[in-house]
Amino acid sequence: MVVVETPTGTQPGTAAARWSALMAARAVPDEILAHAPASPYRQDPERFRPVADPPDTPSRRVGVAVLAESAERTVLDVGCGAGAASLALVGEARHVVGVDPASDMLAAFVGACLEWGMPYQAVLGSWPEALPDTGTADLVLCHHVGYDTADLAAFAAGLGAAARRGVVMELHATHPQAWLDPFWQRFHGVRRPAPPTADDALAVLTELGVEPEVQRWTADPRPPEDPDARVVRVTRRLCLPPERAGEVAAALAAHDGPTAPPAERVTFSWRP
Ligand SMILES: C[S@@+](CC[C@H](N)C(=O)[O-])C[C@H]1O[C@@H](n2cnc3c(N)ncnc32)[C@H](O)[C@@H]1O
Repeated sequence: MVVVETPTGTQPGTAAARWSALMAARAVPDEILAHAPASPYRQDPERFRPVADPPDTPSRRVGVAVLAESAERTVLDVGCGAGAASLALVGEARHVVGVDPASDMLAAFVGACLEWGMPYQAVLGSWPEALPDTGTADLVLCHHVGYDTADLAAFAAGLGAAARRGVVMELHATHPQAWLDPFWQRFHGVRRPAPPTADDALAVLTELGVEPEVQRWTADPRPPEDPDARVVRVTRRLCLPPERAGEVAAALAAHDGPTAPPAERVTFSWRP
């Protein structure tokens, strides 16, 4: 059995504690959540589908290099969503384990593996608690999950514990929902503090004794989303009822700041 150690835990004054505090400060206030017509945290599997011709990103390049060292070529995709990270390695990986606590995401992962002929195992669970169920793999991938976790130290320690050859963790350069902060102020009067960034995550990794290679890059624009579907999604994210979608659309149109997550990405990779 693999034991996950968190050497720093969340001792006051540590980078791990700072990360937890930054995340806690961004939680949706209880009284707003209690009246939300739908969960603001639910993510749509459609938006995370793997693509047939994956872009040649730094994350993918590290993954290809790590897998080239192994005969088994196994991958563990933590927070797999619909499998975009691991299925970008079709033709390189021989087996993929996907773990995710969202059953609709995991169903999309299974569908994509079947469609693309990738041998797979799907594990319904949260990281790092699910580690005993996933086992280890040559390559551990974790794309765009770090900002979903309050205890990044335990989370990242688990990634290292599960990896036989390499870990690739990809993040937005800053919290991907931070662009919504002016809208939280506008619709709820909630003032959000400065968001966590990839540099805060790097400090947590460093505190764990990990010295990752750090690659900063810019992602290609996402395919355009249906404008009405986008307004519905943002309205739900803001815990507002559907009848206020018109106000949200008008606020988005009038806003002179960013209205989407940043394109800047950071790839952290390290050897266990
Ligand atoms: C933004 S999506 C990214 C999905 C996929 N990795 C990608 O890059 O397309 C984040 C995913 O992480 C999952 N997730 C959130 N917290 C998690 C945790 N503690 N353990 C595992 N998965 C988690 C969510 O359910 C969701 O599917």
